[in-house]
Amino acid sequence: LVAALPRRQQSILELRLYQGFWLPEHWVPGTVVFQRRFSPRPDDVVLASYPKCGTTWLKALAFAAAARGAYPPAAPGHPLRRLNPHDCVPFIDEIFAGGEEAKLDALPSPRLMNTHLPYTLLPDRVTNAGGCRVVYVCRDPKDMVVSLWHFLRRAKPDLSFVETFESVCDGTVAAGPVWDHVLSYWRPSVARPDRVLFLKYEDLLRDTAANVRRLAEFMGRPFTAAEEAAGDVAAVVELCSFDEMKGLDVNKAGSGTAGRYRAMPRDAFFRKGVAGDWANHMTPEMAARLDGIIREKLQGTGLDFAQGS
Ligand code: A3P
Repeated sequence: LVAALPRRQQSILELRLYQGFWLPEHWVPGTVVFQRRFSPRPDDVVLASYPKCGTTWLKALAFAAAARGAYPPAAPGHPLRRLNPHDCVPFIDEIFAGGEEAKLDALPSPRLMNTHLPYTLLPDRVTNAGGCRVVYVCRDPKDMVVSLWHFLRRAKPDLSFVETFESVCDGTVAAGPVWDHVLSYWRPSVARPDRVLFLKYEDLLRDTAANVRRLAEFMGRPFTAAEEAAGDVAAVVELCSFDEMKGLDVNKAGSGTAGRYRAMPRDAFFRKGVAGDWANHMTPEMAARLDGIIREKLQGTGLDFAQGS
């Protein structure tokens, strides 16, 4: 199957065009197995994102909110103070790529997992009526490009920003094209908001607490009045804040997430954590070009990166 698919080399990864999306080559066979074999549990929550759009933060927030019964967010011994968020929430795509799906079977319910696959590549058993809930986080593609370049440069120091920018613009980047990825989640989030929660990185930055409440409610674990009074929402926000996470010993040194990304230094997931850094990297012409592509692709969908939701 993989050999028969169109192929392209993109900076550090071999990509294959699979069902309309450029996937890292080593994900394709695992994606087929995921689609055929994965059996969601009703209380599973799949955290989905385009790479470099806030995956790590979403994993931390969702884990902290979902596990707050067992691990009070203000507790000094909280797992997120000694483990990287990627070690708290398994990465489906790399797990299936490595033939390690038994690890998912062994997780106690309710399970939290993440994927970079588009909605259209998720198993029917996830997206059908009897499936499970999905949370998606997106980000201004201009900031995604900047974040992606800094990330890829950790593996390929001579990678130019322009090369990364061009591959995003023509869609040949892992899990791309980004506009199709975003729309694949946007449409079901509008049609079935009880099943797909659509978040924006910029909204999370603007009002993290409000989005933590939305997330907890969506996952079926709304904060109680007593928890609100005890300051638990604020404690989750603080525990998962960029400065807090970036400053932890576990995130400052060493490497390791899942599969091929095991070699990636942990600090590569905590760079700047702001909106608008694109202005420090792109010419106004580049920004206008990418904005134009995105505007055209999103036209008439009701989704817009120019303003918050
Ligand atoms: P920057 O490179 O712009 O700083 P992902 O987790 O999907 O790989 O995305 C990484 C981006 O999210 C990086 O963006 C990273 O700094 C940012 N990020 C990671 N943890 C964060 C947090 N706790 N709060 C805000 N942003 C965070």
